[in-house]
Amino acid sequence: MKIIIDTDPGQDDALTILLALASPEIELLGVTTVAGNVRVAQTTENALKTLDLVGRTDIPVYAGAERPLIRPGVTATHVHGKTGFEGVDLPPPSRPVSSGHAVDFIIRTVMENPPGTITLCTIGPLTNIALALAKEAALRERIGQIVMMSCAFSEVGNITPAAEFNIYVDPHAARMVFDSGIRLVVFPLDVTHQLHTSKARLERIEAIPNRVGPVVAAWLRFEKRFEATKYGTDGGPLHDPNTVLWLLKPELYRGRQVNVEIETDSALTLGMSVVDWWGITEKKKNALFMREVDADGVYDLVVERLSVL
Ligand code: BDR
Ligand code: CA
Repeated sequence: MKIIIDTDPGQDDALTILLALASPEIELLGVTTVAGNVRVAQTTENALKTLDLVGRTDIPVYAGAERPLIRPGVTATHVHGKTGFEGVDLPPPSRPVSSGHAVDFIIRTVMENPPGTITLCTIGPLTNIALALAKEAALRERIGQIVMMSCAFSEVGNITPAAEFNIYVDPHAARMVFDSGIRLVVFPLDVTHQLHTSKARLERIEAIPNRVGPVVAAWLRFEKRFEATKYGTDGGPLHDPNTVLWLLKPELYRGRQVNVEIETDSALTLGMSVVDWWGITEKKKNALFMREVDADGVYDLVVERLSVL
């Protein structure tokens, strides 16, 4: 299956890219970057470093939006560190970013391939996707599906009491995407908070006998120290990799089709994902919203795939 990963690396974003590269079922056509965890120049550099780590300089990286559509940018350096990539020192990128804008790469790729065949895997704020939809209306009919890490229902917020980070950073873009009619598959905090990066799980990843295992373990150890302390758990949640892992093994997850709307007006609950889990309204069901996950199955799959890199 052909995918584009739209991302703001971020250690858990990098692991998502690596899992896609480790999986023969997936053809990664390109990586597009966006401002989110850190500024876009830095997320772009981090994406290039991730591909260098496994010698995949054949995968193009396109830089995208420098800021959200309407609101000022928000970063998460308190979680990911100043560079977004703290935990391991990697060499500077071996090549420059591809020329052209991320939004144009997304449009060109979707329009050049047969309708319904491209999956967008979005693991950062949705600015690039909203811009692409604004620039090329035909994308709505042509994108196969958007598989995204975003939102929260019972776990509610991680960047504010009401909002999940990827939605909060660009709620207006998120609203455009949720209102687009494109098939959406959503991995919210409800799922990611069932996947603690426990000491034992990170040791298992670290013991993978290749270059990648120890790097991924060190990345997650750094990224998860903040959330583990905040939640008082053995390790923190595992967010972005769920998107690619579901493409590989959907039976690890359970959810249902629901209506999801994004709050863009309230100062108090800006960026909240309002999920009609119980079918209280008759609003159109616009997303497959995941709530359950086989946690041990997820970590088995992570280790299995990283082992081939
Ligand atoms: C999301 O926010 C980012 O910090 C993570 O990379 C993930 O995409 C979790 O809310
Ligand atoms: Ca991310």
